[in-house]
Amino acid sequence: MKKEYNRKQDRTPLVDALKQYQEDRPAYFCIPGHRFERGVSRRWLSEEECGFLRYDLTEATGLDDLHQPSGVILESQELMADLYGAKKSYFLINGSTCGNEAMILAVLREGEKILLPRNVHKSVLEGIILSGAKPVYMMPEWIGEEGIYGGVLQQTVEEKLMEHPDCKAVFLVSPNYYGLTSNLKQIADICHENGTLLLVDEAHGGHLYFSDKLPDGALTQGADMCVQSFHKVTGALTQSSVLHIGTGRVDERRVERALKLVQSTSPSYLLMASLDAARYELASQGEDMMEKSLALSDELKEGIRQIPGMFCMNNGITGKYGVQGIDGTRVVIRCGHSSGYELKRRLMEEHRIELELADEKNVLAIITHANTREDIRRFLAALTDIAEQPLEYTGRETDPTGLPETEMVLTPREAYFSVVREVPWEMARGKIAGELIAPYPPGIPLVYPGERLSDEIWNAVEMYRRWGCHFHGPSDDSLSMFEIIEK
Ligand SMILES: Cc1ncc(COP(=O)(O)O)c(C=O)c1O
Repeated sequence: MKKEYNRKQDRTPLVDALKQYQEDRPAYFCIPGHRFERGVSRRWLSEEECGFLRYDLTEATGLDDLHQPSGVILESQELMADLYGAKKSYFLINGSTCGNEAMILAVLREGEKILLPRNVHKSVLEGIILSGAKPVYMMPEWIGEEGIYGGVLQQTVEEKLMEHPDCKAVFLVSPNYYGLTSNLKQIADICHENGTLLLVDEAHGGHLYFSDKLPDGALTQGADMCVQSFHKVTGALTQSSVLHIGTGRVDERRVERALKLVQSTSPSYLLMASLDAARYELASQGEDMMEKSLALSDELKEGIRQIPGMFCMNNGITGKYGVQGIDGTRVVIRCGHSSGYELKRRLMEEHRIELELADEKNVLAIITHANTREDIRRFLAALTDIAEQPLEYTGRETDPTGLPETEMVLTPREAYFSVVREVPWEMARGKIAGELIAPYPPGIPLVYPGERLSDEIWNAVEMYRRWGCHFHGPSDDSLSMFEIIEK
C-alpha cells in the first residue's frame, strides 16, 4: 500500500451508528415511510431479501446531517480525507456528476474562464451551464493506432494558459475511461505558477491510491480538487461518490455552498454507509484488492494475446500521447474483423458477457477484485468463439478520428436559456446547436449547445447516426429532428 495503514481506519462510524439505531428500534414517525423495510412492496423484495433496507433512514437522532455534519458523517468524511491524504472530503449521493458540477460552481463565476478538454463527461457541461463560466477548449492527444484519446500534454496547457492567462481553473479527466492518466504533477505546477486551480475528474480513479503498480492519483500529484465515483470500482453503491479538496488554495465555504445546491436534501443513508464501508475495505485491504484485480486482468490480457484476430491496447503508448500511466485493471480489446459496437453486441447476445463500453474500434472491460477466474475463463471462451466465427463485416466504414474543431457562438449558459426551434436534422447543417450531442456510451459530447454545426461537425455526427449509435442530449435521440438557435 502506498500509504501506511492507520489503525483509526478500522472505524466505521456511520455504519456503526446505523446498526445501533436498528438495535434500539424506536417507534418511527419520520421519513422514509417504509419503516425499517416493513412497508417495502413484497412484489419487489421478499421478507428475507429486503434486510438491508432497514438501514434506509434519515437524519434521525444520532445519525448526523450531510449538509451540516458534526457527528458520525463528519467523522466518516474525516476518515476518508485521512485515507486519501486530502485536506477535506465530502460524501456525494448524486454521483461524480454532482461532484463535477460542484467543483465548477465553487471556483467559477459567470463569464470567468475554465480551460478543459473537449472530451469531458457531460456533467462538466452542466457545471458550466449552472455557473455561467466560459469554456476554453483544448484537445487531448489522439492515439490513432488505438482509436482513442490519450492524455493532455503539459505543453498544451502551457500554451492555452499563455493565450488565456485569466483562466480561473484548468479541468482535466484523469484517468480517462480507458484508464490513461495525464501528467498531473507537471500540469499542477503550471497551473499554480499561473495562479490557476487544477480540478480533476477522477471518477474512474478512486482505486489508484492503493497499489504502486497503478499510476499516481490526482491528490498525490497536487490537484486542488478531485471527484471519485466510489461506485465505479471501489465497492460502494451506485451514485456514491466523493469530492476531495487537495490543497489550501480552495475556498471550502464555496465548495460547501455548491454542494448544497446540487445534492438532495434527503441524502440516502444506504449510499453514505456504503461509502463508510468501502473506505474501510480500501484502508484495510486495498492493496490485496488491487493485486487481485491486476492478476485477473493480466490473465485476461495474456489469454487475449493467444487468440488470433483479438488484440489488447498496446502498453507502449505510455510516455507518448500525453499518457503518463495506464490503469492495468482496464482491459481495452479490439477485434480484427468487427467494430467495437459489434463485438460488444455479440459478447452479450451470444455469450451473456456484459462490458462497460464500446467505441468504433474497441470494447472496454473493467476488472475489479470482485470478479472471478471463472469470469475470465468465460470471457476468453467467448472471444475465442467470436474470433473463429467472424460475421460479415458490419462495423465502421472509416477509421475514427479525433473530434473536429468547433466554433462557440454562445456560451453554454447563453445557449441553454435561448429560444430554440426544432428542424429536421438535415436542415440543422450550418446552424447553431440548441442541444448537446453526445454519442453514448461514453457520453462525450461532439457538439455543445451554442456551437455551430459546421459541415465537418455535422458529417461527424451523421456518421455516428448511420452507425445506429444512441445519443445523449437531443430530445429526439434518433436525431431525425434537432433543436437549433436562430441568431
Ligand atoms: C469521466 C466521468 N466523469 C464523471 C462521470 C459521472 O459519474 P457518476 O456516474 O458517478 O455521476 C462519469 C460517468 O460515467 C465519467 O465517466
